[in-house]
Amino acid sequence: MRLKTTALTFSLPLALTLAAACGGGSDSGGAPQGQGGQVGSAGVSDLPCDVATFVSTNCLGCHSDPPTNTAPVSLVTTADFRKKGISSPATPDGADKTLGELAVEKLSATKNAMPPPPRTAATDAEKATLAAWVAAGMPARAVGETCGGQGGSGQGGAAQAGGGGVAQGGAASAGSGQAGAGGAPTADCKPDIILKGQTPWTMPKATADEYVCFGVEVPATGDDRHVTALIPKVDNTKIVHHLLVYRVDPGEKISGTPAPCKNVVKPGWKLYYAWGPGTPAAVLPKEAGYRLPGAESTHYIVNVHYSNLTHLDGEKDATEIQLCSDKPRQYDADVLAVGSTSFSLPAHSKSTIECTTKAAIIPSTAPYKVFQTWPHMHLLGSHLATDILHSDGTKTPVTDLPYDFYNQITYPLDLTVDKSDTFVTRCTWDNTTSASVGFGENTSQEMCFNFLSYYPAPPPGATWAWIAPATLATCKKQ
Ligand code: HEC
Repeated sequence: MRLKTTALTFSLPLALTLAAACGGGSDSGGAPQGQGGQVGSAGVSDLPCDVATFVSTNCLGCHSDPPTNTAPVSLVTTADFRKKGISSPATPDGADKTLGELAVEKLSATKNAMPPPPRTAATDAEKATLAAWVAAGMPARAVGETCGGQGGSGQGGAAQAGGGGVAQGGAASAGSGQAGAGGAPTADCKPDIILKGQTPWTMPKATADEYVCFGVEVPATGDDRHVTALIPKVDNTKIVHHLLVYRVDPGEKISGTPAPCKNVVKPGWKLYYAWGPGTPAAVLPKEAGYRLPGAESTHYIVNVHYSNLTHLDGEKDATEIQLCSDKPRQYDADVLAVGSTSFSLPAHSKSTIECTTKAAIIPSTAPYKVFQTWPHMHLLGSHLATDILHSDGTKTPVTDLPYDFYNQITYPLDLTVDKSDTFVTRCTWDNTTSASVGFGENTSQEMCFNFLSYYPAPPPGATWAWIAPATLATCKKQ
């Protein structure tokens, strides 16, 4: 069973509940701090104070000057907002409208919304503030008007990475292992394995979007070990949109030289980590780790989504993922997918399916601890929720998030699942196309997977595949 996909396909998600951890602007993965401050009373920005406060808190983590996290434009001054936008796949009408008009639309959009999910959407009051200002012709702050205090903006515009919808976010300790260029990881360990391309990637000027993959072979050391943390070190935040890290079976090795991804993700690939702006490092619970067998080498594949909507020339990137390993801990951790591999979405309509799988099918000893979630759908996906249904009828939410294909990241969790529990996953799509769409690996087809990292893993040799809980699920339309 090959699970083919475009590289895009498996890109996905999300982020953290760690508003605080992510707070100080680390959304940016290294955005120049203090940019946000410019919107304050310092006077660099001439936005009216209410607009300045909103923009600086919600937008400047990316739309700073210069922009970062692959945002195509700066949104710091009234002149910026009055400029025409840039047409891109996410904003096809970009060049026909002012950035102010586009901003108003994007605050309420269901696709490619701003700020990008899982950040908290603007409130109605904030939307009204921006809309009124744009409708009034985007006037500058009145002469002599000073915005109180810090101008509400000293935070570097950051990054509330926000996002409700994920249970627990247990990983406060995973904290901010921020990603940033320059942002020191706070995972409490010393990285000893570096996943890095053999050469930096140079983004072609003419290319707006590219998925680039490289493989890294970690040699056998003779001793079994556990991977205990994955820490992103994002190099060029002008072009790195998000990235995925897989552990793959030995037969799936690819070259260490970064190159456009081949469109294949196979059942032997396990998603260990997905970073987008604001995602903390993945720090495994202290009693568990991903296996790093001593007797054989381990192969990882890193898939980096580069975005170059403004066609910057000669941008290079040497992003790496740093792993910490340790002597074996009590439990092997692993990854499984709940959801479904069987559905049909009628043309021109919204569909929701609800799929259930009993935890008892996992061939290891309960209770299970679930410590990370990665919702994954394709372009038509609009919402994904998973609950754990207990035998007494109560439910524990795992994930409940609007889905945005362009913002696929992993979220930390801290949940316990018993043998008698059932995973219930609801996927919602808006099939705007004129054909019915089914499960498949191409981005023109759809997926409904929630990848959960958990322990204890099934023992080596057990009859088991990560996809089993999804393929064996019972689904009904809602
Ligand atoms: C995490 C980074 C990030 C944050 C935070 C963010 N944006 Fe964006 N923004 C992007 C990226 C990446 C794009 C390009 C993709 C797209 O158009 O959806 C973009 C595109 C846009 C565009 C379209 C630009 C064009 O010319 O096509 C507008 C308008 C916009 N953002 C407004 C906002 C506003 C307003 C906020 C705050 C409420 C905000 N953004 C917050 C990353 C971000």
